Amino acid sequence: MIGFLRALFGGGEPRLSEAGARDGAAIAALHAASFNRGWSEQEVEALLAERTVTAHRATIGSVLVGFIMSRQAADEAEILSVAVTRRCRGRGIARQLLTLHLRRVAALGARTVFLEVDENNRSALRLYARAGFREVARRPNYYPTAGGKPAAALVLRRDLG
Ligand SMILES: CC(C)(COP(=O)(O)OP(=O)(O)OC[C@H]1O[C@@H](n2cnc3c(N)ncnc32)[C@H](O)[C@@H]1OP(=O)(O)O)[C@@H](O)C(=O)NCCC(=O)NCCS
Repeated sequence: MIGFLRALFGGGEPRLSEAGARDGAAIAALHAASFNRGWSEQEVEALLAERTVTAHRATIGSVLVGFIMSRQAADEAEILSVAVTRRCRGRGIARQLLTLHLRRVAALGARTVFLEVDENNRSALRLYARAGFREVARRPNYYPTAGGKPAAALVLRRDLG
């Protein structure tokens, strides 16, 4: 109960650990709250069940407040998604998740990590720039925006080790 209240109000220190099938519903809910096109619980569970998918979660008490997920093929990994619950943003949780995650995918054999990010997503761009990701391609008119011109997707890359 105390953990739940702490998470609700954004307090308490997050605990980072590997995510699994039991986190499907909580990850789907956080994904839906964070992106225009959410993932269903079934989609998340299917991803978590894939052998090539690695996921980490941040929890406060028993409440999931963040996650990161990637898929690996040979020595390349692609970060599929990362999100932190709104109340807990700006406290370094995504940075901690990303650091742990990159260490793990490197241990699993990844030598290069790619991801796509909306050119207007300032917090994500800062997160990735700080972690050593660099822009390698741009896909124009990729993400719909409310009324305006669609935003470009930037393809970022980081070499590991
Ligand atoms: C992007 C996201 C995961 C960052 O999570 P977070 O836990 O708040 O990130 P951190 O606290 O680790 O901060 C990472 C960097 O972003 C910066 N940042 C955080 N919030 C910011 C904001 N509103 N505006 C600008 N920069 C911001 C931080 O200052 C930090 O940069 P710094 O190390 O240079 O100071 C979170 O904002 C989120 O869930 N957004 C919605 C989902 C999303 O867009 N995911 C990324 C898709 S590619």
